Amino acid sequence: MAEPRPRVWLARPLFEDITMRLDEHFEVVRTSVEDRYRPADIAAHLRDVDGALVTLSEKVGAEEIAGAARLRAVANVAVGYDNLDLPALTAAGVLVTNTPDVLTETTADFGFALLMSTARRITESERWLREGRWDRWSFDRMLGADLHGSTLGILGMGRIGQGIARRAAGFDMRVLYHNRRPLPAETEGACRARYVGFDELLAQADHLVLVLPYTPQTHHVVDAAALAKMKPTATLVNVARGGIVDEPALADALAHGRLAAAGLDVYEGEPAVRPELLALRNVVLTPHIASASPATRRAMVALAVDNLVAALGCGPDAGRPPAPVNAGKMKR
Ligand code: DGY
Repeated sequence: MAEPRPRVWLARPLFEDITMRLDEHFEVVRTSVEDRYRPADIAAHLRDVDGALVTLSEKVGAEEIAGAARLRAVANVAVGYDNLDLPALTAAGVLVTNTPDVLTETTADFGFALLMSTARRITESERWLREGRWDRWSFDRMLGADLHGSTLGILGMGRIGQGIARRAAGFDMRVLYHNRRPLPAETEGACRARYVGFDELLAQADHLVLVLPYTPQTHHVVDAAALAKMKPTATLVNVARGGIVDEPALADALAHGRLAAAGLDVYEGEPAVRPELLALRNVVLTPHIASASPATRRAMVALAVDNLVAALGCGPDAGRPPAPVNAGKMKR
């Protein structure tokens, strides 16, 4: 009798023409709805599968894998994997993969667009115009902050941060960055960026863009104390994860003129957005769309499929997924 095929759970309906490649190797358990799963639902889905392909909305940790004795691989369709409890999955011998590189340029484009919209008050002025409030042209209406000639601070200088730095060169910005460690001189040169300490970054930046991974160490790294070190004229842009910023402290700084404006694509409790942020005129709010172009979202799904196929020992790269996160750290 033929060996049963491995079973995989596809947590969302994602580009059918790409995910059908999973059917060549696996019995695929699909869902047709964009569900919001409770931990117990995820646990139930993971109980009888060898692998899963999930998005950043699906949280997978010790509770969800407690009964998942067969589970060997989780492929995340995102570069960030803070939705996955890496220590718990690693301890259980589950290989985790993500989707780096394919979304770098699209996300950097968006980070820059959000920066421009925030600094130059584009969505705020559009809202104002649509409200029918424009009765005459006025010399000092909607004055915003220049990008050209200003200092851009980048917190987290990985691939996306470097992409934003390269774009800043076209706007004649001075680029400072802070990272766990300085980049090699050659990479710094290519990005025309200079490493500084965290406090100096906060103090010098006219615009600060957050592009760092969300970990227990970076939780609320931009808190009230950090915000107090920034210029009151500065803008803050977050395209990383909401939990990096203490949102009530940010809302307070924005409401009381201690920070000029913020552009947020990510939120600590997303999809919920704090009412105090929604109430502010000087915040641009977008629904976690930095990587959302058709080509990039397709490339992310394709990479996640390649990862899952290889992680479960199938296909040409059997055993060698292109983007492993915890390979070699397995305790089982
Ligand atoms: C990621 O990949 O981590 C983005 O936030 C989602 O596209």
